[in-house]
Amino acid sequence: MAGTGKQWWRDAVIYQVYPRSWADSDGDGIGDLPGITARLPHLAELGVDAVWLSPFYTSPQHDAGYDVADYRDVDPLFGHLDAFDALTARAHELGLRVVVDVVPNHSSDEHVWFRAALASAPGSLERARYVFRDGSGPDGDEPPNNWTSMFGGPAWTRVTEADGTPGQWFLHLFDSTQPDFDWTNPEVRDELEGVLRFWLDRGVDGFRIDVAHGLVKAEGLPDTDLSLDPNVDATSLSPMWDQPGVHEIYRSWRLLADSYAVEGDDADRILCAEAWVLPGESLAKYVRPDELHQSFNFEYLMTPWRADDQRSTITRSLAQAEAVGAPQTWVLSNHDVVRHATRLGYPQHAGLQRIEGIGADDPQPDAALGLRRARAATAVMLALPGSAYLFQGEELGLPEATRLPDEVRQDPTFARTGGSSKGRDGCRVPVPWEAAAPSFGFGPGEASWLPQPAEYGALAVDCQRDDPTSTLTLYRDLLRLRRELRLGRGRLTWLDGHPADVLAFTISSDEAAVTVLANLGVEPLPLPDGATVVAASGEREHGAPVDTDETVWLRA
Ligand code: GLC
Repeated sequence: MAGTGKQWWRDAVIYQVYPRSWADSDGDGIGDLPGITARLPHLAELGVDAVWLSPFYTSPQHDAGYDVADYRDVDPLFGHLDAFDALTARAHELGLRVVVDVVPNHSSDEHVWFRAALASAPGSLERARYVFRDGSGPDGDEPPNNWTSMFGGPAWTRVTEADGTPGQWFLHLFDSTQPDFDWTNPEVRDELEGVLRFWLDRGVDGFRIDVAHGLVKAEGLPDTDLSLDPNVDATSLSPMWDQPGVHEIYRSWRLLADSYAVEGDDADRILCAEAWVLPGESLAKYVRPDELHQSFNFEYLMTPWRADDQRSTITRSLAQAEAVGAPQTWVLSNHDVVRHATRLGYPQHAGLQRIEGIGADDPQPDAALGLRRARAATAVMLALPGSAYLFQGEELGLPEATRLPDEVRQDPTFARTGGSSKGRDGCRVPVPWEAAAPSFGFGPGEASWLPQPAEYGALAVDCQRDDPTSTLTLYRDLLRLRRELRLGRGRLTWLDGHPADVLAFTISSDEAAVTVLANLGVEPLPLPDGATVVAASGEREHGAPVDTDETVWLRA
């Protein structure tokens, strides 16, 4: 295995593949598992430790697979179980671990359990696996409470009972085709643990847990306080998020995962929470020693490219993780947010980043600036101690597709908000592999489920592979050095004596010490005497000062 020591996950770089958009083997315009398997050498060459696959399970695809109808099978769109086994075997052969998504908060409305619930009476065992309630108001025709869906509109949908009368309501924190499970029901717990075992038995190395902070709802489902600002207030103040009961579930999952680890083999099976939880101290509870291994650090992703903000987020993040003995994780892009090469092409204000989709009529980013900053930000991230997550295509410097026509948009957020939120399609556009091929080599023909912007051609893997100045080469170099110098296991020390708009720190590991300078100011920053630049995010002349929006790694 490619891991750099015991507990491989402590410094692992994990690459997210969004199966519908990475590589299409059969030409239907939707990526698939055989396509992924064929392209895995790209990841080995890139130098990551693991691949995380977003859902490929049986699903009507109303939320691109995050609406699971059968947790133990592969959707025919993506292949079949044999194709999954072949993928895992090939990944392991190449020294890559395999992490899969598990979606425990909700299923698809096409799951057999939900179908049975609809066909059964109120109060039945079948309904008790989901959150069914009578409506409020004199005729029960108002939703049971005031909760709203994350994708817009009410979080409740009313069903029609078997006799044709308007009936109970069911809860869905996301799309109306994604009914929430009732985690107070032991049957739900057993079922999801069975799902974990199913994939562990097939050899997966871990799970990314979708909406990990949502499983347990406050008792009695009280109304939510609409004055709370989800970006500022403690998430646990909201009755649907970060309820204390989730921790017991993850303790049990940890025992399960640990039962698969082989002593002495560096074969830990890991659990990583997707939990949008504030404050960071609450998030750290998810990674206490007897709970999950990792949780995504979205606060880092949301931090503007401003030196003070970066410094304080990094310092706080490290302290919070250290307090519970967990590695911190770092992430700049994923399938739910605007790609960082585009995000950073907008003015950087204090407060939170713009992560929501962009439309053709919205202000457009400065693409060159965005890419320059994205490369600099990545060079900061990949030096940091802990584990890092990459999103497919960021190693190519791919920008968000910001001019998708509304007619092609598929994210349910777009429809559920009547188009006021553009949704997340812009970061999900299929990846370019070969500049001269149809669909830029995504598939064998022209088909691509979302149209690829013309500028993706020049960013294709084959254009970048042998170009020493390309973003792909930068990622490869950073990842190689990170591994050789074991930076992920290092300790960070901030350096004094630099201008306030420069991030200056050393990472020291048992192997080496590296100094990182990131210039977020406007003045060029002279290199320290005697320093050797071992990596740089910008194109530079030998000995030149560190430019604005450039990061360098130095060795004494
Ligand atoms: C998570 C996923 C997102 C999905 C949602 C509902 O936030 O990352 O893509 O839409 O959960 O499952």
